[in-house]
Amino acid sequence: MRLIIREDPKAVAYYTANYVRQRINEFKPTRKRPFVMGLPTGSTPVEVYWHLVDFYKQGILSFKNVITFSMDEYVGLPRSHPESYCSFMHRHLYDHIDLKPENIYMLDGNAEDLAAECQRYEECIKDVGGIELFLGGIGPDGHIAFNEPGSSLESVTRVKTLAYETVLANARFFGGDVNKVPKLALTVGVGTVRAAREVLLIITGAHKAVALAKCIEEGVNHMWTVSVVQLHPSAMVVCDEDATLELHVKTVRYFKSIEQVQEQLIGRQNIGLKGSISKLSGANANHQPDAPQPEAGKQISDDESSSDESSAEDTKITSTVAPPASSRSDAHGVRSNGALTSAATAGNPF
Ligand code: PGA
Repeated sequence: MRLIIREDPKAVAYYTANYVRQRINEFKPTRKRPFVMGLPTGSTPVEVYWHLVDFYKQGILSFKNVITFSMDEYVGLPRSHPESYCSFMHRHLYDHIDLKPENIYMLDGNAEDLAAECQRYEECIKDVGGIELFLGGIGPDGHIAFNEPGSSLESVTRVKTLAYETVLANARFFGGDVNKVPKLALTVGVGTVRAAREVLLIITGAHKAVALAKCIEEGVNHMWTVSVVQLHPSAMVVCDEDATLELHVKTVRYFKSIEQVQEQLIGRQNIGLKGSISKLSGANANHQPDAPQPEAGKQISDDESSSDESSAEDTKITSTVAPPASSRSDAHGVRSNGALTSAATAGNPF
């Protein structure tokens, strides 16, 4: 597992969105070979979606051959309700990009036969060849999607009763009234997440620090369903400093040092997007710490930029909404004296 630590939620969102963009572009999706994603709701991914929309508007990312599966949906809430996950996904992402309506998969929390609806969802995922990248957030109780404590680690899409802690946490979206929060949801299972070829989790805030510690430092446990990522061959957690508060200092230093070794000793030009060493030629002798990593299949033309990283960092925002100020400056992560900061590779993960 890779743990990427960034200064704050803005830097986490920018890093994550850049990673997603590079993965999609590197994959070079076509109609016959689409890029299939699992996508979360919640407050954590909102800024990630903002950046993805922005990348689309800049012309450096297209969703034309992307298929999306939402992770979950409340039971019994009308689709048109502003807090349904259907509304959420449209509001924050789908209405602003070139994703085809037929490529949007969502759970129907108002289906007459909820069990059949869940089975249908699993079949749809299989029919499109499985999920390539599952982007997820977690709850303070360590749930991934709505897989509350005690969920089977082999579970698939099903109806789930929400934990009281989750109902309380989500009351903020329903005017603070716990009575208005649906108590049941349809959710992909822990097994569904595990079956994805890659899992990318975003975890921010001190209120999720215990869950992150359980995920990283303790064993795989159904009471902290996020910990199952330890069993995944290709999992990455991107968190902010606040979320690391319950981790041992040694753990934090360890994961930061791995990034520095990759950055400073191996050289990011030698490392693939998902962290594999793609070549070692001249790794140490000819090391150029700031050399860009070319992105296979990137959509921008060669004369636009000499590197994908610089294109991500330097391209002007074209959308009408101004980006949160720190989200761009944090992403550079290089001090004026050239020393690497914790956000040193925000524009290019490695
Ligand atoms: P949050 O929710 O992003 O709003 O914290 C995440 C979750 O409960 O899965």
